[in-house]
Amino acid sequence: MNLTPSPTLENTTAWRIYNDAKAGIWIDNFDGRWLVQTRDEVFPSFLRSAAPEHARSIYWKPRDRAAKTEPEFVAGERVTERFSVKENDVACWIDFSAGYSSGIFLDQRLNRARVGERCTVGDRVMNTFSYTSVFSVAAAKNGGAITSSLDLSQKYLDWSRENFELNKIDPKTQFFCKGDTFEWLRTFARQGRTFHGVILDPPTFSRNKKNNFRTDRDYADLAKLAAKVVEPGGWLLACANTFRMSYRDFREQVEAGVKNARREIREIGRLPMPPEFTGEDYLKSIWVDFQ
Ligand SMILES: C[S@@+](CC[C@H](N)C(=O)[O-])C[C@H]1O[C@@H](n2cnc3c(N)ncnc32)[C@H](O)[C@@H]1O
Repeated sequence: MNLTPSPTLENTTAWRIYNDAKAGIWIDNFDGRWLVQTRDEVFPSFLRSAAPEHARSIYWKPRDRAAKTEPEFVAGERVTERFSVKENDVACWIDFSAGYSSGIFLDQRLNRARVGERCTVGDRVMNTFSYTSVFSVAAAKNGGAITSSLDLSQKYLDWSRENFELNKIDPKTQFFCKGDTFEWLRTFARQGRTFHGVILDPPTFSRNKKNNFRTDRDYADLAKLAAKVVEPGGWLLACANTFRMSYRDFREQVEAGVKNARREIREIGRLPMPPEFTGEDYLKSIWVDFQ
């Protein structure tokens, strides 16, 4: 079994430790607790024997099961409460019983590092679709930014505040916004509120009372709304989690959105997935620097 060694980032205890897209087996390591995902509804038995040697605990979740299903306990210690992991010195709470996801999307590690590096003290960063706001914590902790985290879900905004506290950053020094990204970006543009950086990492589909968003169809509209609130000289990180769109099509959508917002691009480039995410190029990330 070829396990991915710890990434070279400092203070990192969570990463994709095993990735075999061909066999349909993916393992995320959360400080020794493994979350195994499989394409098939059968647990790969060879992993059971690997357990005591490499992992403290093994949990399993077939990918097709409903998003809200908790992973099943397989071996080792039972995880009975939430625990924390670190990525590039940014800590976050992990909760295996949380359903949708455990608290962090590990495929965004390099993007979070980039955001932290790009920020300077006092920069205003708008993190839309923020989930547990690990991007925001990275921007605040590693870049000194003042962040705004925006999500539809109160539960995730509460989790976000707890992530800030875990990193000894008073959540009162940051902003949290509950609601729809599309509506809020329009409101910010109307109010003339701008940000040094905006992060767009939407789910592949998002549905609410007014909007029905599909990444592969509607990204240009989202990029346009975001581009309108980026300050001159600022940046946009645009991510799309989809197999259905090529990188080229995605880049065209981002460029069209920026153009429709009557903004000019100084530089645009693709950001890679972490190297251990081999074989599947599903996460497309584009960094735009504005004039
Ligand atoms: C794919 S996750 C985003 C991951 C996040 N960017 C990260 O790096 O951890 C989806 C998040 O978007 C939120 N969401 C979905 N539709 C939304 C909308 N229209 N406006 C704001 N948040 C939304 C969900 O509540 C969920 O927390």
